[in-house]
Amino acid sequence: MIDVLITENIQGAAVDALCSRFKVIIEPDLWRDLALLAEKVKSCRGLIVRNQTPVNAALIDAAPELLVIGRAGVGLDNVDFKHAERVGVVVSFTPDQNAISVAEIAIGMMLSLARFIPAADADTRKGNWNRQQFVGTELYGKTLGIIGAGKIGYLTARRAAAFGMKIIAYDPFLSQDNILLSEVQAELVELDELLARADVVSCHLPSTPQTAGLLNQERFMNMKPGALFVNTSRGKVVVEQDLVEALKAGVVGGAALDVRSKEPPQIGELETLPNVILTPHIAAFTREAQDRVTAAVCMDVARVLEGKPAINAVRRTTPIGKTRVGVSS
Ligand code: MLT
Repeated sequence: MIDVLITENIQGAAVDALCSRFKVIIEPDLWRDLALLAEKVKSCRGLIVRNQTPVNAALIDAAPELLVIGRAGVGLDNVDFKHAERVGVVVSFTPDQNAISVAEIAIGMMLSLARFIPAADADTRKGNWNRQQFVGTELYGKTLGIIGAGKIGYLTARRAAAFGMKIIAYDPFLSQDNILLSEVQAELVELDELLARADVVSCHLPSTPQTAGLLNQERFMNMKPGALFVNTSRGKVVVEQDLVEALKAGVVGGAALDVRSKEPPQIGELETLPNVILTPHIAAFTREAQDRVTAAVCMDVARVLEGKPAINAVRRTTPIGKTRVGVSS
């Protein structure tokens, strides 16, 4: 019997502490081999994953001893948490632990796009000194449209407000009297209005059937001409070819994408466009966020294995007693 199987690159003091108390197997590349993964989960009580292990119903059903799935991160698109709940497996995630890091990179993307920092860097390294080629724009006084005003959207808005940006937000789950929106003096608007008004659009959406392809040709073409687009949430919310067309048409002035519809992506037209910044899904990859995420997920997995309730269970409403019950090993 394995107490905890870790299938992706998750390490640090909290993992070491977990290893000192439980039988933990760490296989950072196991997510790549689905057959081996299905074999290994058969005898594990706890599973810790990041965003690449497909924890679907079949995998959960292949693990009759499984008590808890720890998702080291916020997105749940790779975990069938509804099925887990149905069969009594607790799913714990870490929604607040990497929010600051994601908000900070979103602001970094905005500044990089507005001031052409990556392009100017690349050009200067070639021995050039092309100052006139890199005349940018200030964020000050511009309108930022936040799509998805959850924790990360709010933290991004707060930082942007400190730059003197006016905030508008679209979030079908919030109302104008939301206290966090009030704090950043954000105006809640419909998506189409946001796209028409914002100088910079920053996307903070989960990947769900409702958000798939939300940013499509029609929406990009309706953006304020020359607006900048930043996505640090999930790649599937964007129809990438439609973004390419909008960039080529100049409707979208520049785009910074940390996430892609397929990860890793295939090299395509997006990679050839000059007004695009691409990073490999690193928004949450800071030392601080990773330490917090790892500590939170290890703590919850340990708690469930010891028969205690998880602190960050996805379904806080799951009645205790309906979950499979753990015991100290
Ligand atoms: C998250 O969902 O927390 C981030 O995208 C980071 C990750 O997936 O590891």
